[in-house]
Amino acid sequence: MTEGTNCRLTGVPLLSFVKDQNVAAIRNLAGLATPMALRVAVTLGLPDLLRGDGAGVDQVAAELNVSPVALELLLGHLATLGIVEHAPTGYRTTEYGTTLCTDADNGLTNFLHLGMAGGRAEIAFVELMHSVTTGRGAYSRRYGQDFWADLAQFGHLRVSFDQQMTHRFRDQIPQLVAGYDWARFPMIVDVGGGHGTLLAAILAAHPQMRGHLLDLEPTAAGASRTFRTHDVADRAQVAAGSFFDPLPEGGDAYLLCDILHDWDDEHAHQILSRCAEAAHPTGRVVVIEPVGGRRANTEFDLAMLVIFGGRERRIEEFRTLARAHGLALDAVTDLTDQRCLLEFRLAATR
Ligand SMILES: C[S@@+](CC[C@H](N)C(=O)[O-])C[C@H]1O[C@@H](n2cnc3c(N)ncnc32)[C@H](O)[C@@H]1O
Repeated sequence: MTEGTNCRLTGVPLLSFVKDQNVAAIRNLAGLATPMALRVAVTLGLPDLLRGDGAGVDQVAAELNVSPVALELLLGHLATLGIVEHAPTGYRTTEYGTTLCTDADNGLTNFLHLGMAGGRAEIAFVELMHSVTTGRGAYSRRYGQDFWADLAQFGHLRVSFDQQMTHRFRDQIPQLVAGYDWARFPMIVDVGGGHGTLLAAILAAHPQMRGHLLDLEPTAAGASRTFRTHDVADRAQVAAGSFFDPLPEGGDAYLLCDILHDWDDEHAHQILSRCAEAAHPTGRVVVIEPVGGRRANTEFDLAMLVIFGGRERRIEEFRTLARAHGLALDAVTDLTDQRCLLEFRLAATR
């Protein structure tokens, strides 16, 4: 398109029309009003409250103890987005808006609710400039302490985070279990194993295997419940503790699933060092994570930086990190569309 080309219908220069469209598109991407309106709507529970016949602004404002004038502005924008619509009563949730209801069970509540771990953590993005400038996480800058300390202090954050972790794998567990030869390992240690749904599924699929899961309390207690529910408690031990301390010894495999990307290099080194020193001489360290440039998306990569000061490392970065602890990368498998599995052996063994 040349500078002088005009639209045949309107006579407006086409180049300036395209430029205007670009500006509008970028404004749409960058505006904070919509992401925050969705988060406040979910935090207030508006999609649930306005389901069915809906309700009037004054009634909802009184129920929620918020400003009726401001609530009307919020509902106006939610109506623009199609989340709610005008109704004889005032506003009601649309079919589309029910995607944000708590019983939709799609993970959005944890992601958007400002009082839940995921939603609270997302707001650390406001401090992205700090992260990009320093290369460090921004969560503590915003909240005064890091993500894990926050979870330790506020029980409801820990509960919502554990739920979020269990939920994210709900549909992927069969692939994670079937995509790798777990049966080679008589004894597997799941380091930072959360509520244990992955380990439970691995043990259920391989009755000859035993497992040992380590995580912080109260998550470790949740894992014990999972193992009982899945009928594998007789083969699954649980330890409450930190992976910065010595790990249960003698495992044939040390599993780190979505652990290393939560940490900067200094901490990732400490975790790998604990695995290497605890492993059986022929043991393996098995890392499951999104891998940069392979199975990671750029948005998630930034989230790891901002929230944890971590990142989705590339294969070469994993190789370098592990080599410092005598671990050699043996194999890389694309396990799901979001995660790879990296298998390391102690370099002295084959
Ligand atoms: C991203 S979650 C992954 C959980 C689990 N591996 C999974 O894939 O579902 C990270 C886990 O690391 C645990 N964690 C964080 N700091 C820890 C520490 N110092 N010691 C042990 N576990 C820790 C958290 O409690 C959480 O369960």
